[in-house]
Amino acid sequence: MANEEEEMVVTPWEVSGKIDYDKLIRQFGTQPLTDELLERLRKHMGGLHLQLRRKLFFSHRDLDWILDQYEAGQKFVLYTGRGPSGPVHIGHLVPWIFTKHLQDVFDAKLYFQITDDEKFLVQPELSVKKSLDFMYENALDIVALGFDPKKTVIISDIKNISALYDIAVRVAKHVTFSTVKAVFGFENSSNIGIIFFPAIQAAPAFLGSVLAGKNVPCLIPAAIDQDPYWRVTRDIASKLGYYKPAQIHSRFLPGLGKGGKMSASLPETCIFTIDPPEVAEKKIWNAFTGGRSTESEQRKYGGDPSICTIYYYFYYLFEESDEKMEELENECRSGKVLCGEHKKMLAERVKKFLREHQKKREKARDIVDDFFFK
Ligand code: TYM
Repeated sequence: MANEEEEMVVTPWEVSGKIDYDKLIRQFGTQPLTDELLERLRKHMGGLHLQLRRKLFFSHRDLDWILDQYEAGQKFVLYTGRGPSGPVHIGHLVPWIFTKHLQDVFDAKLYFQITDDEKFLVQPELSVKKSLDFMYENALDIVALGFDPKKTVIISDIKNISALYDIAVRVAKHVTFSTVKAVFGFENSSNIGIIFFPAIQAAPAFLGSVLAGKNVPCLIPAAIDQDPYWRVTRDIASKLGYYKPAQIHSRFLPGLGKGGKMSASLPETCIFTIDPPEVAEKKIWNAFTGGRSTESEQRKYGGDPSICTIYYYFYYLFEESDEKMEELENECRSGKVLCGEHKKMLAERVKKFLREHQKKREKARDIVDDFFFK
């Protein structure tokens, strides 16, 4: 989706350039999600969720081992998270919607970490108070997605540190400065909070085991930008006597601008869950598409869905049916339907989603406290 010349950068704090997912698998040393593994998942999941069918989740570590354990009668816990630097955008919902599906299908307990400490430490202008405000507001989005209140625990690092600190110090003792420097690119000028922070993000991977008093497998669904944390976590797991956490990695929902970069600092490229529906509609109208410069050219030569943000939004979140997806693609390529019409269709779906989500988000204020770690 991005300029060919732009170098790919994928770190927990920056995702930019043209993302080459095969290259990431090689660079990060993860495993591709093979058809064989998808078949195993299909058996347990009673079909394949859109995000698996369309290979939005494309890579993993030890997912086969998690399934071996599960088939042998050993349940696993799920762990995912959010860094509350502002409002949630719909890209964040990609791994969370899938996590909820995993929770439902495997009847799994979920630890949902909100790293209000991380965002305070990396964003110069963010105060602790503001970070905690975002933590609370983001928790409403999490609750609104419908996670099971009996099986979901939200952990605010700042508010609930006692849940994690005992594990984090044990992790930290085995991780050297030179390791986190190499993995995260920290420098001598980095503040000491962020240097310690990887131990805090590692901790929930072992929380299920600590609370159960025995080893419990843990699966982490997230986009692949979070992978550096898991490399460090997996390296030290056996030193603490725990299983290595397994991962399943998703691709990134692109932003609405040319090149597909999605960044909260470019709000016109992101649809936030709290955007008034008309604002989201406007963003969709201004989105970059694979259309031609004139109507007659488009009728003649057709558009290019492979570079079209509107196509990607249908594909990732807003068109469940694979047949309809194919229809959308054909209509675009043949020039039969112009971008304006597809934008209109998408805008209607996004507005409907936002209206419903925002209602659930308001209702979540009454029950969110039941989700926080006690
Ligand atoms: P954060 O807040 O940057 O992102 C939250 C989750 O959303 C994923 N993500 C995306 N997925 C699809 N398309 C996108 N455009 C997109 N942008 C972000 C991220 O991979 C993440 O899964 N440090 C973490 C918080 C955290 C965490 C975790 C995340 C703590 N523990 C365990 C995942 C798993 C953070 O700042 O996430």
